[in-house]
Amino acid sequence: MKIAVIGMGYVGLVSAVSWARAGHKVIGVESNEEKLSLLKAGKTPFFEPGLETELKLALESQALHFSKEFLTMELMSIESLVTNSLSNKSAILGAVDLFFLCVGTPILPNGLFDLTDLFEAVDSLVVPENSSLSIIIKSTVLPGTTAQVEARLKDGFEKLGKVFKGSVWFAPEFLSEGTAMSDTINPSRVIIGGNSEVFKESKLGQFILSVTPASTPIVITDWASAELGKLASNAMLASRISFINEIGQVADTVGADINLVAKIIGLDPRIGSKFLKAGVGFGGGCFPKDTTALKNFGAMHGASTDLLTAVISTNEKAKLGFSERVIKRFGEPHGKTLGILGMAYKEGTDDIRNSPSLKIIELFTQAGGKVVVYDPLIARDKLERLGVEAKASWEEVAQMVDLITILTADPQFVNLDWQKMRAIYSGTIIGDGRRLYSKKILTKLGLNLIT
Ligand code: UGA
Repeated sequence: MKIAVIGMGYVGLVSAVSWARAGHKVIGVESNEEKLSLLKAGKTPFFEPGLETELKLALESQALHFSKEFLTMELMSIESLVTNSLSNKSAILGAVDLFFLCVGTPILPNGLFDLTDLFEAVDSLVVPENSSLSIIIKSTVLPGTTAQVEARLKDGFEKLGKVFKGSVWFAPEFLSEGTAMSDTINPSRVIIGGNSEVFKESKLGQFILSVTPASTPIVITDWASAELGKLASNAMLASRISFINEIGQVADTVGADINLVAKIIGLDPRIGSKFLKAGVGFGGGCFPKDTTALKNFGAMHGASTDLLTAVISTNEKAKLGFSERVIKRFGEPHGKTLGILGMAYKEGTDDIRNSPSLKIIELFTQAGGKVVVYDPLIARDKLERLGVEAKASWEEVAQMVDLITILTADPQFVNLDWQKMRAIYSGTIIGDGRRLYSKKILTKLGLNLIT
């Protein structure tokens, strides 16, 4: 099929590449010039395992093209998308089977999502000659947004004296950074908000059935249930993390091992073992934003939001509490150097959005200390733009700092050579933000473990 994907963030780019590799003709639309030129050169603007290789292959096979907007020569060069005579925007739009909207929906100061980019993308689809568009929202949105998008399209067409006869769908994404390619190719479930009666025969239905493994559950539901289902899935996972972090604090006071406690809980098949890893709190571009927006949206509609409020505040406490415990045990940061191993919000990614590392950096530098970091997946110049000194290995950090905290579960840190650490690190405190290490073993080496 001929597919346009608008917005080349994680969801848009991974989807565009996966679908192009599955044999579809895809145009990826990205308004940011810097990102666009990287993509055209076969480079990903962020690290995601396997993505760059697949991107290059998709570009080579001519199945994937990138463009700043629809009306460009790049798009015109996709042979099967447009014929030479089709030179106006509406004709090009008419040549596309499916439009996926994957633009960002950042959080506004009022705590709800900013729909500026989404509406801008929707408005770009309003053209007079073609009214049978299939528009699929993949951006994370609050309940009611898909209905708003349809109303906006209808209104746009009406202003041009036309009737909108297209279809609008909401198809949320459940990919995680670090495993985005496999999550997209082999999703846990496919959720479609829209008209279930026409789904199977629709272009979207045919497309979804062609790219989804036969064993994957597909749920076709109304817009609002799909929209809320996506947000509630993230909120549920975030709740588990805040829960285990709270229990982790109790565990510490009684000398229990939270990892074993999590194992005991997770062995109950009704509960399961995933997302019960205690640590420094959740971060990233999704959980903090989605839990906050869902809480505010619920409150705005008079629903009880006590649990979501607690999930968010427990997470803030997890970040702040860990940082304070480490610094308190260390002493006065002034004139001292903190070493951070793992700056991203989790392992397997170079994303630092809402990373718990930012909290300890803020506290330590505000108190007059200096920070040196190493992250296996983040380029040093990117780190240094954040005002911290970056090193090329954990060893380089360890030999020059007074205090070390480990903040991601990168395999390099999980399997740290503690003898080597002891030989090069002159400090005695190890802040373990991911609960990776054994207190017993570190104590034997003369190190104090803070969790
Ligand atoms: C999350 C969801 O897992 C995806 O299903 C969803 O599609 C995505 O958000 C989204 O809405 O786009 P992601 O943010 O990439 O994916 O990362 P996760 O692996 O879910 O981790 C989120 C945060 O929770 C990280 O800071 C991680 O370190 C933390 N975490 C995760 C824990 O502290 N403990 C755990 O047991 C699991």
